[in-house]
Order: sequence, then C-alpha cells, then structure tokens
Amino acid sequence: MKNRRLPIVLLLVTIMFASSCKTKPGDVASLYNKKADSIIKLMTLDEKIGQVSLFTSDMSLTGPTMRNDYIDLIRQGKVGAVFNAYTVDFVRNLQKIAVEETRLHIPLIFGYDVIHGHRTIFPINLGQAASWDTAMIEKSERIAAIEATAEGLNWVFAPMVDIARDPRWGRVMEGAGEDTFLGSLISAARVRGFQGSSLSDNNTVLACVKHFAAYGAPQGGRDYHVVDMSERSLYEWYLPPYQAAVDAGVGSVMTSFNEIAGVPATSNRWLLTDLLRDDWKFDGFIVTDYSSLNELIPHGVASDLSQASELAMNAGVDMDMQGSAFLTQLTDLVKSGKVSEETLDNAVRRILVAKYKLGLFDDPYKYCDKKREAEEIMTPEHRSFAREFVAKSCVLLKNNNTLPVPKSARTIAVIGPLADSKMDMLGFWFGAGQFDKAVTLVEGIKNKVGSTVNLLTAKGCNVNDNDLSGINQAVSTAKKADFIILALGENFMMSGEAASRTDISLPGVQMELAEAIIRTGKPVAVVLFNGRPLAIPKLDKMAPAILETWFGGTEAGNGIADVLFGDVNPSGKITMTFPLNVGQIPIFYNSKNTGRPINRENPYEKFKSNYLDSPNTPLYPFGYGLSYTTFSYSDIKLNKQSFGGTEQIIASVEVKNTGDRDGEEIVQLYIRDLIGDVTRPVKELKGFMKVLIRKGETASISFTIYPKDLSYYHQDMSYSYDPGDFELFIGTNSTDNKKTEFSIID
Ligand code: BGC
Repeated sequence: MKNRRLPIVLLLVTIMFASSCKTKPGDVASLYNKKADSIIKLMTLDEKIGQVSLFTSDMSLTGPTMRNDYIDLIRQGKVGAVFNAYTVDFVRNLQKIAVEETRLHIPLIFGYDVIHGHRTIFPINLGQAASWDTAMIEKSERIAAIEATAEGLNWVFAPMVDIARDPRWGRVMEGAGEDTFLGSLISAARVRGFQGSSLSDNNTVLACVKHFAAYGAPQGGRDYHVVDMSERSLYEWYLPPYQAAVDAGVGSVMTSFNEIAGVPATSNRWLLTDLLRDDWKFDGFIVTDYSSLNELIPHGVASDLSQASELAMNAGVDMDMQGSAFLTQLTDLVKSGKVSEETLDNAVRRILVAKYKLGLFDDPYKYCDKKREAEEIMTPEHRSFAREFVAKSCVLLKNNNTLPVPKSARTIAVIGPLADSKMDMLGFWFGAGQFDKAVTLVEGIKNKVGSTVNLLTAKGCNVNDNDLSGINQAVSTAKKADFIILALGENFMMSGEAASRTDISLPGVQMELAEAIIRTGKPVAVVLFNGRPLAIPKLDKMAPAILETWFGGTEAGNGIADVLFGDVNPSGKITMTFPLNVGQIPIFYNSKNTGRPINRENPYEKFKSNYLDSPNTPLYPFGYGLSYTTFSYSDIKLNKQSFGGTEQIIASVEVKNTGDRDGEEIVQLYIRDLIGDVTRPVKELKGFMKVLIRKGETASISFTIYPKDLSYYHQDMSYSYDPGDFELFIGTNSTDNKKTEFSIID
C-alpha cells in the first residue's frame, strides 16, 4: 500500500468541541534527543537491547507468558520498562534496582492496562461512548491518570480505539463502537485526559494508542483472526481514530496481533514506518502487543525468533512486549548487520526521550509518593464522578410507561443472576479495580430507597448454564412485589480479550427466567449488563422496559439506581448497532446502498439485497436511545440550498421537549453524498450535540460544516469532496430523522 494522507477529524459543531487543549509534548524533543544521544554513546549493545525490552511483573498477568527471572533481568540492565506492576512500594523496589544496581542507572517506565479507570472503575468504554460526552470521557481519563500515577504508574496501554462492526468480537467493550467520526473525537479526548497539559507533571501518564491497526475487524468476529479489507475501508473507517490520537500527541503506539492484507501489523513496515512515522509524523515509540513479535512465527512470515525480530525492528517496532525476542536475538542481528545499530539506537532514543518527558531522569521515584497513594485514590470526588458517569452511559432501549419505578411501588423484587454480583460490576479490563468495593444493583437500590421500600431478591438462574431449578422460587418472589427489576446479561468474562461469541443472545436460561417473570403480569424493567450489543428480539418484544447499563464499574449499582428511580433521566445512545440476529452481522448504520437496495414496502421482494428469513433492519440502530421525556424535531432549515467550495453549510432545527420532565437529547447530524466517484454510505455521522432541554422548552440547534468535511477517498485515493447533491439528516438516531437536500456547486 502506498502512503496516503488522512482526513483531519472533519466537523466543526457549534458549541460542542470549542475547547481542545492540545498537548505538544514534542516541543522540547530536540533537547531530549540530545540528552538521550549522550547516554546512547555510553551504552553497550546489551544495555541498548535492555532498553527495548518490556516485561510483565508477577503482580498480575494479562497474557500467556511470564518470566520468573524478570527481577534479575532488571538488575542486569536488560529491561527498559515493566508492566503489570503498581502500588508505590512494589514499583519503588523495582525502580531502585534499575537506578541503583545497574551501570547506567536508567530508570524504568511502568505501564498498565488502565482501560476504564485505575482503582475507581468507570463504565466499560463502549458504555462511556454511549454518553457521547467527550468532556466526561476526558475527565474519566484524567482521574484514571491521577490514580495510576499515585500508585507508581506512568504509562497506560490506552486508549483502545479500534473501530468494530462485529459484536461477536469480545473486545468491542473496550472501544467506542462502530463510528469513525465519534471514535476519533473520543480517541483524542482520552489522550488529552491521560497526558494532560504536560507529561512532566506528576499526575499525567504516557498514553499508548492501540491496537495499530484495524484489530477491530477480525474475520468472523473471532479474536486475533485475520483482517483483510480494502485500502479505502482502512483509510476511511479504521485509521482515523489512531491518527486522532497521534494528532493529540499520544506518546506511544501498540501494534496489533492481526495481519492486514497478509502482513502482520508487528512486521508491517508500511504501517509502522511509512504511514505512522513518515505520513503522520508520529515521534513517540512503538511497542508490540503481548508477544505479538513471537507470533510472527505462527503467522507464517518468520521461521524463527531471529527472523521475527529482524522483521519487527526493521518495520519500525521500538519495544518488544514480553517476547524476550529482542533480548535474545538483537545481539546477533546487529553484529551480522541484519539490523543496523542505527536502527536500534533510534529505538533506544525514542524510549529514553519518553523517560525524559516523564521526568524520570530528574526523579525516578517521582510517581512513588506514599502520601498521594493514600490520599488520591478512590476519593469521594472520583466515586461521585463515576456514579454520574454510570447514569450517563445507561441507554433506555424500551419503555412502555414502566420506568422510572413508580413512587407507589412499596415492594420491589430485584431478580436475576446479575442483581447482586460484585464480580460482574467492573467489567473486563478492570485494572486495579476491587470487586469488593463495587456497588451491585441490589446495593444501589438499597442505598436509594433505604427502608421506605420492602426489597425482595431472588437469583432465578445463573448467567450461563442450563439450570432451571431457581425459576419457580423467583416467580413466587416476583408475585409478592409491586414492581420487578430483572437483572440479566453476560458475566464480565464473556466480553473482553479472547471472549468472542457466535451466539450473542442472552446466555443460559435467562430468557426462560425473563419469560416466567414477565408472565406474572407485574410491571417489569429489565436491566441489562453486557459488554457488547446483544441479539434480544424476543426480550424486546416481551419486556415492558429495558435499560442497557453495560458494566458500570465501581459505582454501577448507585448510578443505575439513579436512572431507575428517575433522579437522572437517561440520555445515552448506543454507538454500536444491536442486530436482530447473528446472521445479520456485520450490520452497521453507514453501510452502502448496493445496486439492488431493499424495497421498504416489500422487504422480502426477490432479487433484492435482503434475506429470506430476516429483515435487513437491526433491533436498535446506531445512535438509538430513549428518554423519560419525548422530543420533537422541526423540519431542517439550511442557510442556502447550494454552496461554493469554501462556504459554510449551516443546518438548523428546533428540538422541543414535549414530555413532562427535563431531559438531555443527543441531536445527530448525518449526510449522504448521493453520487460519488466511488460508492458512498447511505448515511455518515458528521456532527452531534448533547443538549439539556427543559420540559416544554425548545432548543435551537445549529451545525456548521464545510464542503471539505464531505471529503472521501476517490478511485485514485485522492482525498477530496465532489460538487453535486447531498442529503442531510438531523434526528434522534441514525434512522429516525428529518431530511433535507443541498448541493455543492464547485
Ligand atoms: C492485549 C493488550 C494489552 C496487553 C498488555 C494484550 O493481550 O491485547 O491490549 O495492553 O495484553 O496487558
């Protein structure tokens, strides 16, 4: 593949993204480069190889291998960074060995998977994205960085920005969903939150955008599987969120496990050097994923570890995570000239510069502050923000006048395998989160209602087995209640890494439990816990109300209770399509029309692009989510009908809160380019605005975009817009919206 330029994140939305504090940690780079070079001059080959080697400690394990001798390796100067090591004493001990017992006293970097919070755990990332609130997302990473640095860390393996259109893939829980525009804004927000205004502060961390690249598109949704897509799809849909992180100044990049068009990311010189370094001007360091360097052998592009190391380093990898490959192979490779010493020096320089930026050479124990550790973790402020974030991430999927729980309900039954499960509240990648500190749904409801309500509980069944024996008892509990809250979904291990599923309906016998409870005829609200979109058409048909809560983290139960009881009006909208069935996958909103689009009046018409046995439409479309109030949209007004190439296109609507409570609405703008040089999606998100509208009031919303925001990759891969006709949609989700048209005349 050739080098291409990428779009800058496209749209200017009035109000929303006014403030973007760009960090430019590269400003002092030349000074640090010089300092690093002065150290490199003193280094032996072994010491250089040490700097490009990263090992896990034995404190926790996030992959298949571990070296018991990692401490000896540190002592021998053979380690540049350590991961899965935190808490001040633990980190200080390891750092002490590096700076006091090695010849050059070079400090270690300490990394960890701080994915949705460090100790105070926030909702899983897919849930956070459902808030569409980039300011909240940024703040959550700021808090995560404060807590992580208070426990010795200075590097996080986040943000994960892989666009994903296949909910079978378990790692969709870590990302922002299926949309590139939203995903790019969230990516940049996360980098800003982690890295703050300066990496030299003691509460900011070096971020690591991952997994580069296109890890979110494995065939069949099976983790680690092959990725094969057109160059256009890669540029248009998958690459922009990584580039947004680079533009926001991200300090490091992690390669992905997958191959792209036949070349594994970890040995992909086009990806790591031509694109990332040369085109995007990325100046931080590149680390492999967990032994992804060694995996070049089973991938079948290297016959042994030596060749794998040669390929990876020459492709642009600077640091080997846990592979012991650079450690064991680089000496010979450099001596034989297969890897030049200059290439190794470049890698070492990038890592040393990161250490300078973090201030580790000034004070290697900078992040080892017992006072901070005692005072800055899980503070009441962090927890109260987490609670607020839980409520903002909840998505009301259905509501037949059932929620909020009526004040008249005197006896409430909380039923289901996820009603009181601390283990399942944090979600996968819970970092240093503690299960025992997590608030379950039952606890959250108790905290909310105190003794004013008689609370009954029953488990009914397990999450994922065939045992029906608890259902009768759950039904008799339900019969005693005025209102039932039914907590269903996946356990936390059913999404995340190496957690792909071919069946994404409710696992086990939970649907049987749901049917039995709903058949009591009592008012029932289902509360869903899950790390991916689920295919739940039957539940949708039967249940009077469904609230999607993802895995909310430490404050899950409290935040959900705030929504259930109406203290917070839900405003989240899903950022990944919920399919009707697995057979529809991949199903996403910005699809193509095809030459034989479905006939909406006759969806099963022969010789159209449809199925014999399923509609094309999903259960819930991208951008969907209800509120306890209702909103009505006026027709769209444009400032003009046709525009010159540099003119502003201003689209306005009036959104009225027509219900009886105040509510937040996420107003969404989509555009369709009707005729292109290549086929264009039926709709693309180009802007959104989250607004609080008081009951009875009307908000005037306007979006400003420019023709250049409608650019795309042409047949020759040039990136520009075409004059011509466009459709513009504004509405409450990707399918329910008002429509108008405009044209661009030059
Ligand atoms: C995951 C990465 C993670 C790394 C270190 C890998 O298995 O793919 O996302 O950062 O482990 O824990």
